[in-house]
Amino acid sequence: MDHFRYQDNRLHCEQVPLDQIAASVGTPFYCYSRATLERHFDIFRNAFAAVDHLICYSVKANSSLAILDLLARRGSGFDIVSGGELERVKRIDCPGNRVVYSGVGKSAAEIQAALDHDILMFNVESHGELLRINHLAGRMGRRAPIALRINPDVDPATHPYISTGLRRNKFGIPHTRALELYRLAATLEHVTPIGLDCHIGSQLTTLEPFVDALKRVKHLITELRHVGISLKYLDLGGGLGIPYDAQQIPPHPERYAQALLNELDGLDITLILEPGRVIVGNAGILVASVEYIKDGEEKRFIITDAGMNDLLRPALYDAHHTILPVMRRFDREEILADVVGPICETGDFLAKDRILPEFNPGELLAVRSAGAYGFSMSSNYNTRPRAAEVMVSEDRFTVVRPRETIQQLMEHEILFS
Ligand code: LLP
Repeated sequence: MDHFRYQDNRLHCEQVPLDQIAASVGTPFYCYSRATLERHFDIFRNAFAAVDHLICYSVKANSSLAILDLLARRGSGFDIVSGGELERVKRIDCPGNRVVYSGVGKSAAEIQAALDHDILMFNVESHGELLRINHLAGRMGRRAPIALRINPDVDPATHPYISTGLRRNKFGIPHTRALELYRLAATLEHVTPIGLDCHIGSQLTTLEPFVDALKRVKHLITELRHVGISLKYLDLGGGLGIPYDAQQIPPHPERYAQALLNELDGLDITLILEPGRVIVGNAGILVASVEYIKDGEEKRFIITDAGMNDLLRPALYDAHHTILPVMRRFDREEILADVVGPICETGDFLAKDRILPEFNPGELLAVRSAGAYGFSMSSNYNTRPRAAEVMVSEDRFTVVRPRETIQQLMEHEILFS
């Protein structure tokens, strides 16, 4: 459930009409609902209440400081993948013991910064990274807490670009080599193996792949105990999908938690989860204005002021996002159309071959389910300033990131002399 609803045929975020925000901040803008965000976090966290656990929201899904801050205040920890994301969680005063660090290419500087912040653990993705962390921790007179990220070779049955747990993916350490690498880690002077990590992909819509992966790593944890390596944490990553349309409804977080907890039964370990999309995806929308209606020979194009630089998901993954008029009218005809942006690429679309109510130039439309991997993947392609971000709480809204200016885009550029 979310808090984007029509009241008197005007689409609202909580109690604020979206056209009122548009009149004040212009378009395009991202709009987040605080109540939805907090509700999704609470549902997810409560689903795991029966066991020791830490929710580490995956910063990459939406790294707005306002969102991170609201989640931190509710007790969330964070899953980071870069030095930049580390700086963001430091900015909101999140203590290191609520931060896990994932990613295949951690640089030396990033590792040092994370050691300095005393993070909970590094999710190590390769032999080389293990040795690098050991070396750097030694130089700093420290011991680094680590987990190995295990690639369980399980098919998450999602879009190939966002599947990570298959043998052919670049992520993690093959489960067949895990034991050997844990044994090595246990002999290194400046790392302490404290956990095991596994993330198999994103936008999963069934539970089986999660359970299959858990079976594999559970077996490993038992084997490790037999050789004297006793782990405190099991990090199961993120990946639970959200409904982008009515056709595919992923399992509710409670069913997801139940499936994992059933499988975990008897394993004495603290669980870490790294949800991103399921927390923030349906807590955000993108609002755009229609610039032109153009009738091609085959179909109609609704040309908006938001493009693939604002929301890349349709172009990159052929992702479906529901599109709604901000002002609902029942006298509109339905038409077949593409909703496209102003970018000079054929791949620049927000929706393709979609049956939509007729729009007129100047009207506002809302692209739903845009809270995750929306703003965080946006760019300045075509020298377009990134959209404003707005947070709504009940009957008030705050611009949490103003629209970029063209001046800002060129600020640090230098002419060659
Ligand atoms: N943990 C790790 C190690 C991850 O790589 C990810 C996402 C997550 C957690 C959070 O996954 P989530 O709960 O959000 O599914 N840009 C793509 C999604 C890329 C996901 C990358 N990793 C999209 O727009 O669909």
